[in-house]
Amino acid sequence: MGLAVTLGEGGTPLLEAPRLSERLGCDVRLKWEGANPTGSFKDRGMALAVSRAVEQGAPGIVCASTGNTAASAAAYAARAGLPAVVLLPAGAVARGKLAQAVVAGAELREVEGSFEEAHLEARRLAEEEGYVNVNSINPDRIEGQASAAREIVEQLGGLPDVLALPYGGGGNTRAYERGFDEAGAGRPRMLAVQSASRAETFATAIRIVEPVHREQAEAAAEVVTVSDGELREWWTAIARLEGLFCEPASAAGVAGVAQVRPDGRVVCVLTGHGLKDPDAVERL
Ligand code: F0G
Repeated sequence: MGLAVTLGEGGTPLLEAPRLSERLGCDVRLKWEGANPTGSFKDRGMALAVSRAVEQGAPGIVCASTGNTAASAAAYAARAGLPAVVLLPAGAVARGKLAQAVVAGAELREVEGSFEEAHLEARRLAEEEGYVNVNSINPDRIEGQASAAREIVEQLGGLPDVLALPYGGGGNTRAYERGFDEAGAGRPRMLAVQSASRAETFATAIRIVEPVHREQAEAAAEVVTVSDGELREWWTAIARLEGLFCEPASAAGVAGVAQVRPDGRVVCVLTGHGLKDPDAVERL
């Protein structure tokens, strides 16, 4: 389908990273998803999911979120003239993401509990009110996000040897698998990088204890586990060596590569913009 609802998502830069490459001993490129309209990769899937909701005549959309999905859902719902309800784990969402959801007029509901509890509540609301759930259990989200892998193949003129990305719920890992399959050039070695402290990592975007897509994501990619110390180290290194300010969770791909030390051409996905979580910097 053509996109009825778009904010100009996708088409993000794939940047060379010479100083990071030297440090990591391989040819690192950074897929800068912070350049999307609301500052994260979620926009790729949200454009498709909200377009489809409009096409279906849905009365509104609903999602649970650690913040970025909420910010994206709020913006695309506003663009479509639809109401959005976002369920957030209380006290665990970065300030910039909250600001984005508030200013776009989404209805924010804080859930006393984890992301998982908010997710259950979102599914219940979708069923009761006929709202379309725009979490990554919605296949349009995965299909929309798959565009990033196809872009990388185009930008490189072929497959990278390795693709490394943060692993929260695993939806994006599945999206890359799908996108590489669609590009038809085979699949790179995929590293899905998770936090060692899923329940309490300072990288709140990936503070998810039970990944919804675990089975499929872990079949598609090797799981690498990094500490908050490693995340912090590489998050600041990305800014200091290459000038890119991503949010803490977005450094997971690079931190995973630093641990595994693969050879060849390595693409690390920087999933979200650092301005979303300025408080993380104050905690350095
Ligand atoms: N990076 C960022 C910046 C994220 O916001 C997320 C997930 C991920 C990585 C992990 O992606 O879940 O597909 O494995 N954020 C969700 C949210 C949970 O609600 O915004 P995943």
